[in-house]
Amino acid sequence: MSTAEKLYEKLKNVESGTSGPYSLERCRQMAPRVDEIKRLKQEKNAVILAHSYVHPEIIYGVSDFVGDSYQLSKDAKATTADVIVFVAVRFMAETAKVLNPDKEVRIPSRLSGCSLADSITAEDVRRLKAEHPGFTFVCYINTSAEVKAECDVCVTSSNVYDIVQRIPSDQIYFLPDKLMGENVQDEMKRRGVAKDIRLYDGTCYVHAEYDAERVRRLQAQHPGLKVLSHPECTRDIIEQSDFVASTSGLMDYMQADQTGSAYLLLTECGLAGRAQVDMPGKTFIGPCFECKYMKSNSLDDVRRVLVHPEPEDIIEISPDVRAGALRCIDNMFTYAEMVRD
Ligand code: 13P
Ligand code: SF4
Repeated sequence: MSTAEKLYEKLKNVESGTSGPYSLERCRQMAPRVDEIKRLKQEKNAVILAHSYVHPEIIYGVSDFVGDSYQLSKDAKATTADVIVFVAVRFMAETAKVLNPDKEVRIPSRLSGCSLADSITAEDVRRLKAEHPGFTFVCYINTSAEVKAECDVCVTSSNVYDIVQRIPSDQIYFLPDKLMGENVQDEMKRRGVAKDIRLYDGTCYVHAEYDAERVRRLQAQHPGLKVLSHPECTRDIIEQSDFVASTSGLMDYMQADQTGSAYLLLTECGLAGRAQVDMPGKTFIGPCFECKYMKSNSLDDVRRVLVHPEPEDIIEISPDVRAGALRCIDNMFTYAEMVRD
């Protein structure tokens, strides 16, 4: 099978968001770029890590690893490649660099922000720490390396509840995601864990958009519908959901589930695209919203950073910031291992 045919076989079912539809003709146009990127990867001893929200032709055409932010940081930690091309957003590439100071980490997108990571600076955290003496500062992984360097432990959507529960302190400042923080407060109550959890005011502009009333209408129209959501959604959405997890956790749930007649995925459109490729027998309904930052990575950008990266495509972190951010990320790995045991 040619590259174009292989790509088409994978992508022909993608219907969510603006990435598709993928015709055989469109895959034929992409195939030379895909082949060139694969050759360049070998030539440069490079590895491509892609988040599930980026365009499917990157995930299924050229990536070596795909997953949620926790899994990708573990993949970044384990790689022996000289160059890591991180197709996602800047904070994820920064995490890879913190874990791999001797490797070159490149980010293809020139619009590589994130509404959560951009909502808070290291200066803000220093001020909050002065205002909250004795509190343990827990940051979501969606923060810059500078912010992580000021915090005690970082978490991802795959381990946030278990780590917050496990932290010995009962005074927690959680930043920057207010909605995820409210969900952490609710989950701790459900688990009977008494902690004073204070919150910052950031939100993900994608997940904050989902409307619980609309979800209720869809549930009424589709008996047997399973509503799956990401913990960056509002608490109303979480209450309406059958299952809440990280992007990889949602994929695993759908793979294993035999009871849903259809699925409504309340996260970025890319995950529905992945599910349409990996689970062709299942039905997905409903609207989804796109992250402009994740979607700003293209195959041409991936090629560009492999051939002639510009200084702004290469992640640089000062030794001081790296040391602080590494402590914060390593604390996450330690807690995550503990809660797994
Ligand atoms: P995951 O870690 O679940 O992939 O989430 C990352 C993210 O940015 C969600 O918006
Ligand atoms: Fe950030 Fe939201 Fe985009 Fe995730 S979906 S990268 S939290 S803006």
